[in-house]
Amino acid sequence: MQKSAIQKAVNILKRGGLVAIPTETVYGLAADATNDRAVAHIFETKQRPTFNPLICHVCDTAMAESLVQVSREVSNLMMKFWPGPLTFVLPKKTPSIVSELVSAGLDTIAVRMPRHPGTREIIKELGHPVAAPSANISGKISPTSAKHVEQELGDVIDLVLDGGDCIEGLESTIITIRDGKIVILRPGTITKEMLESASSSEVVHLSTSGNGGITAPGQLTSHYAPEAKVRLNATSKSDNEYLLGFAFIKGDKSLSEKGDLREAAGNLFKSLKEADSSGADTIAVAPIPGVGIGVAINDRLRRAAAPRDQSEIPI
Ligand code: TXA
Ligand code: MG
Repeated sequence: MQKSAIQKAVNILKRGGLVAIPTETVYGLAADATNDRAVAHIFETKQRPTFNPLICHVCDTAMAESLVQVSREVSNLMMKFWPGPLTFVLPKKTPSIVSELVSAGLDTIAVRMPRHPGTREIIKELGHPVAAPSANISGKISPTSAKHVEQELGDVIDLVLDGGDCIEGLESTIITIRDGKIVILRPGTITKEMLESASSSEVVHLSTSGNGGITAPGQLTSHYAPEAKVRLNATSKSDNEYLLGFAFIKGDKSLSEKGDLREAAGNLFKSLKEADSSGADTIAVAPIPGVGIGVAINDRLRRAAAPRDQSEIPI
């Protein structure tokens, strides 16, 4: 990313504008996290319910530590995985410079240091964290290229920065620490196994953590919804279907012919968009093994296939 593009983005953010920024996971719709009006504008632009909190993106661990309480365990995980696709939900330090809207009134803030150097440079120059949800209309497929953002939000935001295609392709893994355990609130490409090998603490997925409650609003609902219906675990294609294959199931297009889950994660959102634009009634998707990154892929697919009931909470 050119220095002039970075400076332009910083100037817009300083004025309270919205900029789509590249990250290694998906494109984010960024605003200065300390500016109430700018943050409110994110919610309006995405048509996102205001009770669904946003992630604060930081340029270094010092900025994170100024916002939230960082234990030794968390600090160790930050050292191992940052910059990268891991978000921590941590107790908020008060008083806070971050807009109340960012954390939707909760006493925690989600923090993450993205890997894209241009984006970290923007945050550093701004001198404040940026609040950035995925740069899509709430409930739709998350964008993994600047072109996708342009198509959906190009007319209504101040700038779309093109930093190339997103390498990881799925949103960050979100974790919190509860009763000494690492709880995965949203699976991503940093897997349970990777967290286990980086820490001596037990690592659990939210669904198996024993208390049942959903603390990451919008986790188990319809999301990533294409226009077409979605049918999972398809081994063959019916009439009016577009089949997304995997491994030995070829399909109209394969998420990964060699059955590589990392590659499939990287291809998922753009393939869903492509399948959708084919005009098929239904997008059928081959079975994806629920191991490693497959857990995160299946999480997104289940939500893409979920009933699109208006009473549900999309993110
Ligand atoms: O990879 C990513 O995380 C991308 C890029 C742009 O960084 N961002 C992203 O943001 O996926 P978004 O807003 O689409 O998803 C953020 C998720 C939501 O499910 C939200 O409910 C949860 O994080 N979240 C944010 N703050 C939280 C908090 N304080 N407690 C619990 N969940 C929180
Ligand atoms: Mg999102």
